[in-house]
Amino acid sequence: MKTTACIYQGNCQEQLKLLANDSVDLIVTSPPYADQRKSTYGGIHPDNYVAWFLPISAQLLRVLKPSGTFILNIKEKVVNGERSTYVLELILEMRKQGWLWTEEFIWHKKNCYPGKWPNRFRDAWERLLQFNKSRKFNMYQEEVMVPMGDWANARLKNLSKTDKVRDISKVGSGFGKNISNWLSRDKAYPTNVLHLATECNNKNHSAAFPEGLPEWFIRLFTQEQDSVLDPFMGSGTTLIVAQRMNRHTVGIEILPEYYEMVNAALLPANLSLFDIELGHELPKSESCV
Ligand SMILES: C[S@@+](CC[C@H](N)C(=O)[O-])C[C@H]1O[C@@H](n2cnc3c(N)ncnc32)[C@H](O)[C@@H]1O
Repeated sequence: MKTTACIYQGNCQEQLKLLANDSVDLIVTSPPYADQRKSTYGGIHPDNYVAWFLPISAQLLRVLKPSGTFILNIKEKVVNGERSTYVLELILEMRKQGWLWTEEFIWHKKNCYPGKWPNRFRDAWERLLQFNKSRKFNMYQEEVMVPMGDWANARLKNLSKTDKVRDISKVGSGFGKNISNWLSRDKAYPTNVLHLATECNNKNHSAAFPEGLPEWFIRLFTQEQDSVLDPFMGSGTTLIVAQRMNRHTVGIEILPEYYEMVNAALLPANLSLFDIELGHELPKSESCV
């Protein structure tokens, strides 16, 4: 089945108002960090960050389905030798706004470059904050299972004979039964740490996601034909990956050059690869119904 891809150029605080209530299954985004990258697309002072973001998160709360999830990639910088607290303040304010702060995933940047600072080590991780509207949200955990490796064998080696035959009814913990269950499996559930290299090959945007990042969350929180939104789409990584995974996509970008780049990269809405090979072309609209 075909999917739609709708992109808008402008400030997402305004453009989000065009989207319907409760219409999006997953939001994955990375807004500009406070005071970072001033030279490229404007920085927001850390003191103003929460006030700047709250009207946007209010719109995101409105457009997200009750069963949906919002993943916010963000990391506070160091100011005057101290970590800024704006991310922590933002979490508290978003909770007041009605969001549940359900989980925090860590993006471990496997390829962060070496360096030396007098009072800290190099930054090798960023936050991926998970927010929800409701405690009952869609989650497809089996879609992100990882190979078991030799964990079960190594773990069993350290157990006594009694441990190996331990009966749930005797200890009341279920531990013995769990171990034997895992022995017969070749896949385990992942942790909340994602080990992904930063994207160095995307010459078109200075802060592009590695494709594996949105892909992992799209697999975990959506199914085919669900909808994925990135209100700060940049080079469009979230949309391009979502479209490839047969999800409907919506993106917003303030800078015309990035908007045009994504416009060229996406398959036109309602066009299949087959249509394109035949030379059919449909206009891409700035509206999403
Ligand atoms: C960190 S980058 C996102 C990169 C993206 N994840 C990717 O893979 O390319 C943030 C983007 O948000 C855009 N932006 C900044 N303020 C915005 C606003 N108010 N509304 C929409 N886009 C905005 C910037 O121009 C920039 O391209």
